[in-house]
Amino acid sequence: MMGFFKDCCRGLVLCICLGFYLTLRCFANEVNAYQSAKLAVNASSAGQPIPDTLFGIFFEEINHAGAGGLWAELVSNRGFEAGGPNTPSNIDPWSIIGGESYLDVLTERASCFNRNMVALRMDVFCDSSGANICPQEGVGVYNPGFWGMNIEKGKTYKVVFYVKSSGSLNLSVSFTGSSGMPILATAKVIASASDVSDWSKMEVLLDAQDTDHNSRLQLTTTQKGVIWLDQVSAMPLDTYKGHGFRTDLVEMLVEIKPRFIRFPGGCFVEGEWLRNAFRWKETVGPWEERPGHFGDVWMYWTDDGLGHFEFLQLAEDLGAAPVWVFNNGISHNDQIATSSVLPFVQEALDGIEFARGSINSKWGALRASMGHPEPFDLRYVAVGNEDCGKKNYLGNYLKFYSAIKQAYPDIQIISNCDGSSQPLDHPADFYDYHVYTSANDMFSRNHRFDKTSRRGPKAFVSEYAVTGKDAGGGSLLAALAEAAFLLGIEKNSDVVSMASYAPLFVNSNDRRWNPDAIVFNSSHLYGTPSYWMQRFFTESSGSTLLETTLQAISYNALVASAILWKNSEDDKSYIRIKVVNFGSSSVKLNISIIGLDPNSLSGLSKTVLTSSHVTDENSFAQPNKVAPLKTPLEVAGNDVVFELSPYSFTSIDLLKQSSSLGFTGSDSSRSSI
Ligand code: AHR
Repeated sequence: MMGFFKDCCRGLVLCICLGFYLTLRCFANEVNAYQSAKLAVNASSAGQPIPDTLFGIFFEEINHAGAGGLWAELVSNRGFEAGGPNTPSNIDPWSIIGGESYLDVLTERASCFNRNMVALRMDVFCDSSGANICPQEGVGVYNPGFWGMNIEKGKTYKVVFYVKSSGSLNLSVSFTGSSGMPILATAKVIASASDVSDWSKMEVLLDAQDTDHNSRLQLTTTQKGVIWLDQVSAMPLDTYKGHGFRTDLVEMLVEIKPRFIRFPGGCFVEGEWLRNAFRWKETVGPWEERPGHFGDVWMYWTDDGLGHFEFLQLAEDLGAAPVWVFNNGISHNDQIATSSVLPFVQEALDGIEFARGSINSKWGALRASMGHPEPFDLRYVAVGNEDCGKKNYLGNYLKFYSAIKQAYPDIQIISNCDGSSQPLDHPADFYDYHVYTSANDMFSRNHRFDKTSRRGPKAFVSEYAVTGKDAGGGSLLAALAEAAFLLGIEKNSDVVSMASYAPLFVNSNDRRWNPDAIVFNSSHLYGTPSYWMQRFFTESSGSTLLETTLQAISYNALVASAILWKNSEDDKSYIRIKVVNFGSSSVKLNISIIGLDPNSLSGLSKTVLTSSHVTDENSFAQPNKVAPLKTPLEVAGNDVVFELSPYSFTSIDLLKQSSSLGFTGSDSSRSSI
């Protein structure tokens, strides 16, 4: 018994010592772990051309990305159609100003627009004199927009609406604070009875005298009578290129220099049910005549101000190739049989004709009437979204494929079926590849296309992101894993032609999907680390991939690539080396550029994306907590040695050919890459 007790004691002491030793070792690892690695960049050979289209963006109408987001329309449910075609209906988010004794508000199928018949009717009982005097501030309706309208002092807003009245009209049109006070801008619309006895269009310019990010639009009167209202729109005058896009949001896209834009979804294109899918013909022509629709996947109404034309216009404004995803007769829950799919095929052909047909064609003429007689440069279409494997996909796909190739042989067609592991069993120019996964898995996918067959259609990685707990609302960890994945794509860009992160935007009031690249509300925005990560790749499309060899003894958390790119603005050549450190150790990295004469390189800058904790995120309060930090870089000769921080993404920019560029100042600054 005594011996057993002694053995136990000895065991216990041994365990404690071992535990102490292991703790010390772990601690030592944390504090002192310092790795070294070598990266050889071969600048002597021709390198491999990277496709012009490699990095782009994917815009989906999800999270109120467009309605209440990129599309600058301030009024939500502008045509009173969101409550459905049967009246009386819900007018949400419109609300009534004034009590029941003053007015009655309802919907009626009384519009002058055939495709959206619902209009608002206000029976005003009070008057400016007599027994029932209206309140001084008037009675009527207000619209709070999408979680408050952003009205800014000094800016001008155009309000347009259609009106009909039982008598003369005296209506105040105002932007106010969220409670109706203060008045930020106001104007009177006065018309004789004969001028408004039938539907008339009214336009008012309002100059904001003050700023309020949570404003509302009011239409009020102090005059008895019946007034009908329909298609009420309010837009800031200063939209991007005057085309209706919210400038601050587009500028975030411009900074990524996207080479393509895939639109308008995603699941948004499919619908839970076909009856609610996005159908392009319902989204073109005068905005007042568009019926709008309820997107039943992301569960909100869109007035479809951002329609097929506007997406093509956005692509043109960004200098990005449009990639149009259309419905192929398949939704999440119902499918058109291949034998009945021809009307859908015709709809797709018509959509292509709308984009690029001559102005003498039916749909080309409509495009011209909308202000764009020149064709849009539509060269890529995707037949459906994530529909591969569904019963009718292949049959339907082949109908679309042969009809489009026959009418437009140059159009490149994207199949939903993944051809990265085995060849497709059908013809296609590209195949779609989507990945949403954990950070570790995304990191390991930097080798995903290494073994893909070099023959056959190319990959279009049209949706990728780290999701789940690794990503939270958009973490550094997620961005680093995605960066490694993109470095792998750069290196495999002989078989991957296009890649885009998803989703692009989220209105913080309607987070249907987490994370997203750009977060906004009515007035503010910030990029998540995944947004900033994409900024490291702005010069990659159309550049040349240089051969790189990375040697990192017993440390497998590094991925690197190098490109040679030419800046058309100064006609000079630059080498950009990008390295992800996905581990917790600092790394001393020794880079040697092979094949260049020692004086032909000069250092420009080092840009690092990192933060004190790998789970750090940005927020409205701290929009640049995780953002690239750019510092000048000096190099002598062809060897560069520097330290990679734990959990970081670093870009080294070097100027090739001359060493004449010097640096002014030595301050670090958060800035664009
Ligand atoms: O990006 C969000 C959604 O993810 C897309 O709508 C869909 O294509 C995918 O499942």
